Amino acid sequence: MGWRRRNSRQETAGRGATGFAICARIAGFHSCLRAMTEAAASPSTPFEWIGGEVRVQALVDRFYDLMDLEPAYAELRASHGSTLDDARQKLFWFLCGWLGGPDHYQSRFGHPRLRMRHMPFSIGILERDQWVACMDQAMGETGVPDDLRARLKASFMHTADWMRNR
Ligand code: HEM
Repeated sequence: MGWRRRNSRQETAGRGATGFAICARIAGFHSCLRAMTEAAASPSTPFEWIGGEVRVQALVDRFYDLMDLEPAYAELRASHGSTLDDARQKLFWFLCGWLGGPDHYQSRFGHPRLRMRHMPFSIGILERDQWVACMDQAMGETGVPDDLRARLKASFMHTADWMRNR
């Protein structure tokens, strides 16, 4: 099934492919991202499909609001500090690049090295599953299209699983 819109420009495809390649190195989900990149005939990116920075910001905001509010994510919330402000800002920067948009995170912090950066936090199956469920709920509530949401959920699960450290 096609992932890209028809009639988009080639240069956009190049930026998307770069973003995907970086993600794959970080998280080891090459096959899923390659399928996303190559599946369709015309160039576009998940970043464009989701609606750009405004929609990524809305997704991240809803994600951390849900983490703060929903008892179902209590253990995940407990693994974070007293404030989620830093995490909110950094996840927004990171996801823009991860989705094939501007590399705000890398330009500020260099290579994400997400697994290393998560070592201080205790991440097991429970935290992994709550993170993905929280993100999936946020995607649903912020209107991420169903097929994009399903693909992103699978990629998030690969990434979150790779960050388990217990
Ligand atoms: C698997 C469960 C996860 C847990 C328990 C977790 C927890 C955390 C915590 C506690 C922080 C520090 C927040 C702060 O600086 O105040 C953090 C940072 C961050 N997380 Fe996660 N995380 C998880 C999964 C993920 C996933 C799947 C992604 C990306 C798809 C992600 C992306 C980030 C980013 C980009 C940062 C900022 C890193 C930095 O520059 O310090 N996290 N996470």
